[in-house]
Amino acid sequence: MLEKIKKFFENLETDSLEKQSNFLKNLLNQAKEEGKADIAKGNTVDDLKTVQTKYFGKKGLVPDLMRYMGKVSNKDKPLLGKIIHEFKTDLENHLNQIIADIEKAENNAKLEAEKIDITLPGTNTKIGHKHPLTIVEDQIKEIFTNIGYTVVEGYEIEEDYYNFERLNIPKDHPAREMQDTFYLNEDVVLRTHTSPVQARIMDKLCPTLPVKVIAPGKVFRRDDDATHSPMFHQIEGLIVDKNITFADLKGTLLHLVQSVFGEEREIRLRPSFFPFTEPSAEVDVSCGNCNQEGCRVCGYTGWLEILGSGMVHPKVLEMAGYDPKEVSGFAFGLGIERIAMLKYGIDDMRLLFDNDLRFLEQF
Ligand code: DAH
Repeated sequence: MLEKIKKFFENLETDSLEKQSNFLKNLLNQAKEEGKADIAKGNTVDDLKTVQTKYFGKKGLVPDLMRYMGKVSNKDKPLLGKIIHEFKTDLENHLNQIIADIEKAENNAKLEAEKIDITLPGTNTKIGHKHPLTIVEDQIKEIFTNIGYTVVEGYEIEEDYYNFERLNIPKDHPAREMQDTFYLNEDVVLRTHTSPVQARIMDKLCPTLPVKVIAPGKVFRRDDDATHSPMFHQIEGLIVDKNITFADLKGTLLHLVQSVFGEEREIRLRPSFFPFTEPSAEVDVSCGNCNQEGCRVCGYTGWLEILGSGMVHPKVLEMAGYDPKEVSGFAFGLGIERIAMLKYGIDDMRLLFDNDLRFLEQF
């Protein structure tokens, strides 16, 4: 086609474009049809870009035509410009329309492929849940943080000095036999209770007041039966301040017990002995199984033992640097396994460590 157009311009005499304009229009109409045929052959946007280059690119037909503008007289320039412009816009509009159609179709296909039926039932993702010991630990932490306590941690591998000495349990003291200890060497043990955290936190804070912390964590003893495990969990509580009394201890523990087990439960304090508290008390909770009528769970006493406690021994305060004439405190220690067993009616502690899903899924 270009050839014919070339020839047309070569033979064009000056000032005769007007007379021959229909002939040129005719040629360009043929070129347009060829262009449309080229366009019709394209299937993809890429194919059509090639067609675009062929007609409108730097070396394409339209720039070629524009070059002939220089060949015609000034009088004929507007006419030729108009003819070329018409040819160009017609073909270009057509091409752009087809490109837009293809893009739209491709887009629709993509949307169709991405379509989801939101009425279909969902796939159930099984997420895990907390272990009963974690549930109880979290609950107790929340009870105490709500009344201004801070949660602190100690060391599972602990110095004999903190595990015993700083708690007023010297070497050869008979109280050491209460707890069958794993010794790593002469001076280092797996902590037998969370009480050493008392001494460590007082060392850190003294002389600041108040000390008001709970310390959850693992403890270790050479024990293994239905109610004892070589590793179990305790939570230690400690408050040191001016004017802390035994009444504060009792009120705090009543609040703890009623928050964990229910408002209707009561506590009973029995005199006891711990080297690091004086006086010491063991705390029982009223049996929720029989409403204190007496049953197998409570050994027909109506009461269940749940924790040890007492007023911090003056020597323990002193060793940390506090003056027992100025400040006082109370402490308590509870076994998380024991609380969980009572709360959920679990009769064998080993269930808490077996990780049998039939058991764990009940919580
Ligand atoms: N540490 C004791 C034990 O493991 C429990 C205990 C008793 C902790 C009395 C205390 C306390 O803080 O005051 O048997």
